[in-house]
Amino acid sequence: MFYDLASTTWGPEEIDAIARVLRGGQFTMGDRVREFEQAFAARFGVKHAVMVNSGSSANLAAVAALSYKEHRPLRRGDEAIVPAISWATTFHPLQQYGLRLRFLDVELDTLNMDVAQLEAALTPRTRLVVAVSILGNPAALDVIRAFCDRHGLYLLEDNCESMGATLNGRPCGTFGHVNTFSTFFSHHISTMEGGILATDDDELNYLARVIRNHGWARDLPGDHDPQSPEGFFEAYRFVMPGYNIRPLEICGAVGLMQLGKLDAMIERRRANAALFVELFGGDERFVLQREHGRSSWFSFTMILNPALGIDRARVMRDLRGAGIGFRMITGGCFPRHEAIRFFDCDMVGPLTNANLAHDHGFFVGNHPRDLTAEITRLREVLDRAARPVQSAAVQ
Ligand SMILES: Cc1ncc(COP(=O)(O)O)c(C=O)c1O
Repeated sequence: MFYDLASTTWGPEEIDAIARVLRGGQFTMGDRVREFEQAFAARFGVKHAVMVNSGSSANLAAVAALSYKEHRPLRRGDEAIVPAISWATTFHPLQQYGLRLRFLDVELDTLNMDVAQLEAALTPRTRLVVAVSILGNPAALDVIRAFCDRHGLYLLEDNCESMGATLNGRPCGTFGHVNTFSTFFSHHISTMEGGILATDDDELNYLARVIRNHGWARDLPGDHDPQSPEGFFEAYRFVMPGYNIRPLEICGAVGLMQLGKLDAMIERRRANAALFVELFGGDERFVLQREHGRSSWFSFTMILNPALGIDRARVMRDLRGAGIGFRMITGGCFPRHEAIRFFDCDMVGPLTNANLAHDHGFFVGNHPRDLTAEITRLREVLDRAARPVQSAAVQ
């Protein structure tokens, strides 16, 4: 493919790190994962980072931890305000823990939650807001956090698409009571699969560590030698319902290498974004993502201006023909998926913009390498393919 959605960012360092783990014989979660967690917490200025096997699992552990808090836990029937566009596993743990979702529309240009509608979404049952920064672009996290503080709500920040982005100099993924990241293959750093839960809250950290590890106290400080008098029982103490969502040791080892490259990779992504905006910004055929804060530019979104009647099917055909990869914007408007029939939910208004993004939008890839040739070719292809209906009619 000429211009793919994602590519590997691994070099010999990652392969060597994996080989060292394999030679060492400690395959399951151990010292490398611990080192990665410490480095990650230091890099993002959070007290605790808990690595798990995916961003989806980080969301699951986050919702589970909030549901097992000693004081003011989330309870079944509580309401969560969520954006209409996000990945399915932003929403699924909320359903699994019995929460009622209120879907809020997004802004058409940032693609993030329209915070002007937050007050309208609030009810006496609201207990949680889930904030998502879509495809690298920071949501209005400061406004959302202030709203949560004003109304005594928890904030879960799902930052799985925006590692390395900042808002007012503060890293995305640090605004919530609990925050999540993904290190899936195509994301800003890759451990193949992987995720991180980040929090400053000691109790949420404790709960997340137990929840990721069978509900077992084994991953916590103490004497866990099953053959010592104290450790015999201590080593097998199950303190609450949990899962096995632990990461592999090779993921921790690779994560350490990737984290060291993160800043340089984001600079490269941002340089590509500058070219993308130069070539497509101001073109009335496309609504691009307007940068809010400092984006880490996961990818480049384009919404075909609905007023011009451009045929998206033709655009897709030509992109495919030119070997340019594209996808729906983060799965589109989530309430339009069949899974919604399992949810207790309602919509705060008609979700106009989320539906426009669903019906007229797509994204193409960004990579941490020079994409001048790819983005230039994209421009050539779209100049031919994205024809407003009026001009197509006179041909
Ligand atoms: C916003 C968001 N949340 C959660 C996830 C899940 O992450 P993972 O693929 O690591 O499970 C994704 C995946 O892309 C995502 O985009």
